[in-house]
Amino acid sequence: MTKGLLQDMRERFEQVQTPFYYYDTQLLAETFAAIRCETDKHEGWHMHYAVKACANPKVLQKIQQAGFGADCVSGGEIRTCLENGFPAGEIVFAGVGKADWEIELALEVGIQYFNVESLPELEVIAEIAERMGKVADVSFRINPDVGAHTHAHITTGRAENKFGIAREEMVRVIRTSQLMPSVRFVGLHFHIGSQILQMDDFEALCLRINGLQEQLEAEGIAVKNINVGGGLGIDYENPDQHPLPDFKAYFDTYVRHLKLRPGQHLHFELGRAVVGQCGSLITRCLYVKKAATKQFVIVDAGMTDLIRPALYGAHHHIENLSNSTSSNRKYDVVGPICESSDTFAKDCLLPETKRGDLLAIRSAGAYGEIMASRYNCRELPKAYTMEDFQS
Ligand code: LLP
Repeated sequence: MTKGLLQDMRERFEQVQTPFYYYDTQLLAETFAAIRCETDKHEGWHMHYAVKACANPKVLQKIQQAGFGADCVSGGEIRTCLENGFPAGEIVFAGVGKADWEIELALEVGIQYFNVESLPELEVIAEIAERMGKVADVSFRINPDVGAHTHAHITTGRAENKFGIAREEMVRVIRTSQLMPSVRFVGLHFHIGSQILQMDDFEALCLRINGLQEQLEAEGIAVKNINVGGGLGIDYENPDQHPLPDFKAYFDTYVRHLKLRPGQHLHFELGRAVVGQCGSLITRCLYVKKAATKQFVIVDAGMTDLIRPALYGAHHHIENLSNSTSSNRKYDVVGPICESSDTFAKDCLLPETKRGDLLAIRSAGAYGEIMASRYNCRELPKAYTMEDFQS
């Protein structure tokens, strides 16, 4: 989605109430094609889209139609996926704190497998499966203790993080599961973090997995699926120059460094890289306020609609869709919420901005709409796709 294309949509955007999310389904389709161009070359490679990034039904349906499975982290996500056409057999279920009802739901509908994060969780899954007369396919999430060059809040693969089972425990946990008649060991799961742009981090994960696979081989333990999680980042600074993430570099890293065994399946769980660039938060300037040292553009979207800047100090490129002609000025772009952290950008360069102008906050397709809240009793943001404006 280039800036030009968004500006072309301005008249149509004027017809609906702001703020709202806009999903460029054409870019989404191009993203699917770019992913499949890499993954289809390899037998046994599967993409399970990380639903937590965006569960908008229209987006989810397109992802399902593109042939991807789903990576869910709650019973709610499993239900949402089923409602939007994903077959249960293409859903995997992760998360450190699966509640009993969520495990029951997953077994009832027959998901592909659980990504199990602890021994106590394994015991509960085994107990519930036995009671339901089912066999649960389980994959163990191993904490690879591999660092990722990303924000501390979204690093997950270090030993000190709450996620996964320690490497030293891996064999013991697998052996325990092999003694349980109501579970079947089907694989290993990893995830090192999110918004990762350095391929070395994924390479380090591959090397770690190779070591673990050798250890398991020596123990005579066969592994059917290797799930490497997600984490590929997007270019938040220059969404127009890089509307597609570097899928080739990402998948090539696995081709070059991960030693799969014959017949082994490789699963990916990308979220952000699939949907991040196709979404924008469209908002309207309510006021331009001049303070002693600053000018504020106060918009009608707030941290309730897009929390990433407030929560992670995340950068999102902002542009004025109503005026791109005059020379740039510096503004702080802020929302209406009663919190100082309700700031989308500081010292942001924008053409002269006036009350009523439409602004696009870019690269908001992932962890945007889905993380919205009703703080200050605000409405949840609406969402539209290109097709909604065509009809
Ligand atoms: N698999 C697992 C086990 C995960 O925990 C995650 C993300 C993914 C896959 C997908 O990661 P992705 O490909 O999207 O990087 N709210 C934060 C991001 C949190 C990511 C949590 N886990 C943000 O707005 O940056």
